Amino acid sequence: MREFTEENLTEAVVERFGNTPDPRLKLLITSLVRHLHAYVREVEPTFDEWMAAIQFLTRTGQICTEKRQEFILLSDTLGISMLVDAINHRNRDGVTETTVLGPFYVENPPEVPLGSDVTGGLKGDPLYAEGTVCAPNGKPLANAIVDIWQSDADGFYDVQYADRTEAGLRARFRTDADGRFQFWSVMPTSYPIPYDGPVGDMLKATNRHPYRPAHLHFLIAADGYETLITHLFVDGDRYLDSDAVFGVKKSLIRTYTRENPGVAPDGREMTRLWYRLSNDFRLKAAQPDRAAARQA
Ligand code: BEZ
Ligand code: FE
Repeated sequence: MREFTEENLTEAVVERFGNTPDPRLKLLITSLVRHLHAYVREVEPTFDEWMAAIQFLTRTGQICTEKRQEFILLSDTLGISMLVDAINHRNRDGVTETTVLGPFYVENPPEVPLGSDVTGGLKGDPLYAEGTVCAPNGKPLANAIVDIWQSDADGFYDVQYADRTEAGLRARFRTDADGRFQFWSVMPTSYPIPYDGPVGDMLKATNRHPYRPAHLHFLIAADGYETLITHLFVDGDRYLDSDAVFGVKKSLIRTYTRENPGVAPDGREMTRLWYRLSNDFRLKAAQPDRAAARQA
């Protein structure tokens, strides 16, 4: 009988996965075992500490619902989401950079005509947002899907209002023949990620704040191009340097210009101050899928 010891246990566990037929799964699991064992060897947890870790992960699972994904928040706040993003989006020269999707995206938002006001009764200073969707060489992409979603002046997304069922500050547009889109919404604000669960407990215990700098989310899809998931951050926001989920990239910070009352670009008569955002997005041509390429 082979006896397992502190010294040989890691290799014994790795060997136990030796017959895994899928080589990628074998690598994923044996590497996980090696790294977890190395972590335990490094920190030498007490039984109480290990039980606290198990209870933390248990609570993380238990709080998840269709509307709340605490494991994604955990991945985001540990910087893992952005690391996976960076690894999968190398070489972005000449195309728009990516950042986290976040938990507030809702698939298939209501498609509305270009120029629509998507506020849906939520609060904030008016914002006129416009832009184009282009190929890396600047060729406009017609009929691209542009999904947008954002927080209101109080820092909440529509899905966070328990009494609300209709979309607000969330919509889908299709670019016109010149690759253009435009819409009215409100100025986004910085807001805390949900911190009333185990991830919030971790942030509190480690003296970290839960805030994200103000941003507008975009998911842009066009045939033959990689779907672009990104944000445009508001320049000057106090949390740009300390985003709770490490999502800020310099190339994604924009000036949302403050405009005086007067006539807006679409002819709307503005009797109060409003803001304007313009941005041209460049999509990357679709590449063969990395997992499929690995198997070929
Ligand atoms: C967001 O930007 O909506 C978000 C991203 C990560 C965690 C929480 C919120
Ligand atoms: Fe967000």
